[in-house]
Amino acid sequence: MALPNINFSDDHLRLQAVANQISREFLLPQAARHDKDESFNEDGFQAAVDAGLLGTWIPKAYGGNEHGVLGLAMVVEEFSKADPAFGVAFAVNALGSFPIIVGGTEEQKQKYLPRVAKGKAACAFALSEKFAGSDAGGLSVRGDKVDGGWKINGEKKWTTNGSRANILTCFAVTDPSSRSRRISAFIVENTDPGFSIKKVEDKMGIRSVPVCETAFDDVFVADDRLIGGSPGLGFKHSMMTLDLARPGVAAQAVGTAAGALELANTYANRRKQFGQSIASFQMVQQMLADMAMKTEAARWLVYACAAAADAGDMKAVNKYAAMAKCFSTDVAVAVATDAVQVFGGYGFMEDYPIAKFYRDAKILQIYEGTNQVQRMVIARNLMKEAGQYDYLNDVIPQEVQETYAGEYEIANT
Ligand code: CAA
Repeated sequence: MALPNINFSDDHLRLQAVANQISREFLLPQAARHDKDESFNEDGFQAAVDAGLLGTWIPKAYGGNEHGVLGLAMVVEEFSKADPAFGVAFAVNALGSFPIIVGGTEEQKQKYLPRVAKGKAACAFALSEKFAGSDAGGLSVRGDKVDGGWKINGEKKWTTNGSRANILTCFAVTDPSSRSRRISAFIVENTDPGFSIKKVEDKMGIRSVPVCETAFDDVFVADDRLIGGSPGLGFKHSMMTLDLARPGVAAQAVGTAAGALELANTYANRRKQFGQSIASFQMVQQMLADMAMKTEAARWLVYACAAAADAGDMKAVNKYAAMAKCFSTDVAVAVATDAVQVFGGYGFMEDYPIAKFYRDAKILQIYEGTNQVQRMVIARNLMKEAGQYDYLNDVIPQEVQETYAGEYEIANT
């Protein structure tokens, strides 16, 4: 597998600086209030729209800036340093529009992507259901063929951005008898009759972004809303989408870890005990050093994965995206936990912003594929790679092979 070439253009660095400024000006001062009220930071979102950031991952041909998955990751990281909930609200626009980018017809791309890039249409990704989370192929929402289009019926769960989204990419069973072409993806607009928000969830963290149960009651979508124009491609499109979107959630985790570390480091250098700052104690130093090391390692894994995605190396991305998502989100939880520890009793109180990082971090290990699913994806890739190590036949001496014949089989057999 070729090493990803992480190529930061001047545009990427400018993008990062703009996102950082929005983060400090619009997100940081308001994060606690929006968390408390469970209200969305509309001013921050408008600032991102005005700066053209909604076009980051969208190709220029469809009104975007074409800064790719790397650009997306850099922006989400900056936002999440201040407010991880805003980071995911932004990233879900990519998750919800990637099915159109990877699988849409030219007409669908021309019609919908410019609206997303200009911030005129927010997106959501309606895949998960009550009985189909990790088993994304086990959906029960139906898409039935009718004259001129399809009727969608059923309920979706965990639809992040659900009540804010104008466009939802919705996955439904169109051929229950097929194993490999069972599912199709549709573009649903929130104004389509029969679409409704059933419930807005009450959550432990990321409280300012709505996560919803969405209901589809005889929602009619014309044939031109079937993503890709032919049925049965939905599962593949969902998997390709997740490969491209997971670097975004991984970047949210890096931002979460970096934000928590910055707070803990600042606090440790100010807080005095036994007549000196607690940062002067080696046990605290070790915690801070480990937090910094893990955060930095996660950051570069995310950049490598994003760069592989932008190079179009999708085979590599499947494994890298799972690694980046799993590693960085485990890091975010570990770093946020230690950051609370550095704050001591104050860390447990909502007076300081660190408790929110701790609450916001946990979901990272669960959504966009649990970390157990990510490890399964990594292991599946490793098992495929094991087939390439047939040189073992040459390096294991003949007599050893004969002695242990039958006890193991050389990979590839
Ligand atoms: N790219 C392209 N095709 C892929 C693919 C990929 N990355 N992964 C699988 N496929 C194809 C396979 O080639 C196979 O095709 P054929 O039938 O033609 O051979 C087909 O898809 C089925 O593949 P698998 O047998 O590997 O599928 P599986 O049922 O074993 O599932 C899985 C694999 C990895 C567990 C998958 O179900 C998965 O990723 N689950 C997690 C789902 C998830 O992340 N959900 C979160 C949704 S978003 C969210 O959290 C809410 C939010 O709003 C933030």
